[in-house]
Amino acid sequence: MNALSEQAPTLIRLDDYRAPAWRVETVELDFDLGIDASEVVARLLLRRDPAQTAPLRLDGENLQLLSIALDDQPLPATAYRYIGNVLEVDGAHDGSVLETRVRLRPAANTTLEGLYLSGSREAGFLLTQCEAEGFRHITFFPDRPDVQSRYTVTLRADHTRFPVLLAGGNPDGSGKLEGGRHWARFVDPHPKPSYLFALVAGRLEKIERDYVTADGRAVQLKIWAEADAIARCDYAMAALERSMRWDEQAYGRNYDLDVFHVVATHDFNMGAMENKGLNIFNAKYLLADPDSTTDDEYRHVEAVVAHEYFHNWSGNRVTCRDWFQLSLKEGLTVFREQSFSADMNSAPLKRIEDVALLRRAQFPEDAGPLAHPVRPAQYSEINNFYTATVYEKGSELVRMLAGRLGREGFRRGMDLYFERNDGRAATLEDFLAALGEANGTDLTPYLAWYAQAGTPRLKAHGHYDAASREYTLTLTQQIQADTHHEPGTPLPIPVKLALFTRNGDMLPLQMDGQTAKPETERIVVLTQAEQRFVFHNVITAPVPSLLRGFSAPVILDCDYTPEELALLLRHDIDGFNRWEASQQLAIRAYENLRDGVADVALQAWCEALAQLFQDDTIDDALLAELLTPPGEIELAERETGIDPQHIHMLRERLQQRLAERLGAMALRQRFQTLDAHASIELDALSQARRRLKRRVLELLNLADGGSARVLAAVQYRSAPGMTDRLAALTMLVHGHAAQAAAVLADYRERHADNALALDKWFAVQAQLPGDAALERVLLLEQDPAFTLKNPNRVQALFGAFVRGNPSGFHRADGAGYRLLAERLLTLDALNPQLAARLATAFNGWQRLEPQRREAARVAIAGLARHGALSRNLAEIIGNVLSH
Ligand code: TRP
Ligand code: ZN
Repeated sequence: MNALSEQAPTLIRLDDYRAPAWRVETVELDFDLGIDASEVVARLLLRRDPAQTAPLRLDGENLQLLSIALDDQPLPATAYRYIGNVLEVDGAHDGSVLETRVRLRPAANTTLEGLYLSGSREAGFLLTQCEAEGFRHITFFPDRPDVQSRYTVTLRADHTRFPVLLAGGNPDGSGKLEGGRHWARFVDPHPKPSYLFALVAGRLEKIERDYVTADGRAVQLKIWAEADAIARCDYAMAALERSMRWDEQAYGRNYDLDVFHVVATHDFNMGAMENKGLNIFNAKYLLADPDSTTDDEYRHVEAVVAHEYFHNWSGNRVTCRDWFQLSLKEGLTVFREQSFSADMNSAPLKRIEDVALLRRAQFPEDAGPLAHPVRPAQYSEINNFYTATVYEKGSELVRMLAGRLGREGFRRGMDLYFERNDGRAATLEDFLAALGEANGTDLTPYLAWYAQAGTPRLKAHGHYDAASREYTLTLTQQIQADTHHEPGTPLPIPVKLALFTRNGDMLPLQMDGQTAKPETERIVVLTQAEQRFVFHNVITAPVPSLLRGFSAPVILDCDYTPEELALLLRHDIDGFNRWEASQQLAIRAYENLRDGVADVALQAWCEALAQLFQDDTIDDALLAELLTPPGEIELAERETGIDPQHIHMLRERLQQRLAERLGAMALRQRFQTLDAHASIELDALSQARRRLKRRVLELLNLADGGSARVLAAVQYRSAPGMTDRLAALTMLVHGHAAQAAAVLADYRERHADNALALDKWFAVQAQLPGDAALERVLLLEQDPAFTLKNPNRVQALFGAFVRGNPSGFHRADGAGYRLLAERLLTLDALNPQLAARLATAFNGWQRLEPQRREAARVAIAGLARHGALSRNLAEIIGNVLSH
């Protein structure tokens, strides 16, 4: 009884939400595990909503049903129907127990969803991925997050092939069975939705730590990995301990089971997964050692470990009512993760990185045919909504609320949120209600942020009246339509600001009716389409520093002169706004070059940076960021009729002008000073030095390529760790240096046994600027180490090419688009989630210049005409094409 049916894509709508007619109080799962075939027996204790009459309907996809019984009576074939992806069963009542037995084919499952095999048949291990709707690939179940059940899981398998058996919850016995087999049982006392179920079985090694929570629970922390990777888990373990302490201190949240398992796999569609008591990680975000991991990657490991751990409260204890509320757990958890990382590292740097990511990944999404509100109104395939908008913009919305309530107020609100919703499947309304009520304020106006797609635009205009010493700031917002395409309401936009004198001093901010001593920084909240804010006793015409710390996720349009931006770049004490001034000035400088007009902004940018380059009070990492103009994707966002290769060329010229102003000599000296400290230490100072060293070398390459290449070649060989080695490799390869082939061969051999290091070898080459990239990608596809079956490898080659290399992907002849379209078809048959994610690289094709636009259109339309696309890919292609 194999149900394989192609269904017409149906749209799931938020407005159609209904509470489940049937719930599952307890579930007993028995797995008989094998690589080729595994059997699953599920016993569900059913509860019926007395107010509803719907028959029992359970989700199930590609399940081979072996037997079915209701209240211990085998069911005749007439008493149930398995049609499409739904099993309908007659005769169930409140308190009934339904037992099903199904067979799964883990080794044949290339989707990496449900139960699948990681690695080879001989040496690999079995694991599950259930979010969002993978549990229905394992057994029949009401697979929706508002059905929360207590799980008892028993695993049985051959002892030699599967010595380690893990599932979520607390261990509840294990033992030997006949025929060389064994078993292990796990009981999870916390009711949970099915998407948080997980199991792992195979040959794995572990490292262990004992941890005692602030409220006194002894917890065993165990990180599991394959034998060749276990030595690279120590950093993750330390990061896990830091995360647990931080959540206790910052939010008063303690861990709630006796064990916490974390497992690394090389075959994973996303970053990591917060399964209750059994987090599963893409190895990329867990394994780390100085020889193969860059500083950026170390920080990602720390952040993702924290993110998944924090989900234990924001996601697991309080889960989502339905998938439209996804940002309730993801936006909130990203915010918690960002706050943690800011506390562990440099806070201004973290903010710069987060905003840069938002602009690079979320703004383009929000500006094109894939735009959707943080709480979407409808979807066809939920996996397509694990987006930068739900995650990154969602986090910005939480940050705005946190800023609005202040540190203590936000904590009060979060305490109430957790207390009230513990064990529940909640909504974004529940979240805003708790934050508001704990603070005696109404936050419902912020719901509009969750309902409107698109990045709001904020216009700022200042006017100084010398006679009255009044400074008037007029803020105007552009109003967008909401999810129902009804005219939107104005958004509450908090604008943190300061006013600077022309000498770079901050002015006191005195507003109407203010009695307290005026501060030099404050937040004004724009709640209407347009509002004026008046400041009194302003002694001189000021330069406003607006949206400090990026206090709202908007595009700010303010009529600064280049001199004013340069002043903020020199003097603003808000690290973020200082960087922002450099970014805005760099954009003006870029426009000077593009439009062939007087280079006033370019001069101002270079002069200000030349001055800061000599200033040794400034943090090296911040300086590195100040010296970096916005990326090519961000520059393209501001234009229509885009030619990405032209943008690349202009951005190179812009940087060359900066490099020449700084001077080859000064750059070389700075490089040498920084290089004298070369080390593999991970403290902030050492990381900052490496970051600046890389930037200085890149600039030197533009001012004096010959000497930069010599330094890079030396650095490649003498680098004590991956950060320096990869920086040198990248420079030599992208600059087509004579040494490029030799260092690539050396790297390849040196890291042949390390998949994550080898991924970087693929990615560096896929990011060769310009037309050369495509041929290289075709060549690398033939490499024996390349496979479409491993998402990390696919991302390293194709992800780096189509998303990380605009000037390579966007060839004028359209060959990049055709290659992507072809590979998407092959990939879609293996792994629809991955194919759909990669296909989002076509986003924005409508804004390309005519020749490229037409080539892209033909490639995408060809895909769309293909009959047999997955629901995942079909939805992305359909949306990309239709708007
Ligand atoms: N919830 C995961 C997170 O922490 C995201 C995730 C992991 C996921 N694996 C997935 C989402 C597979 C969809 C499909 O962000
Ligand atoms: Zn998450």
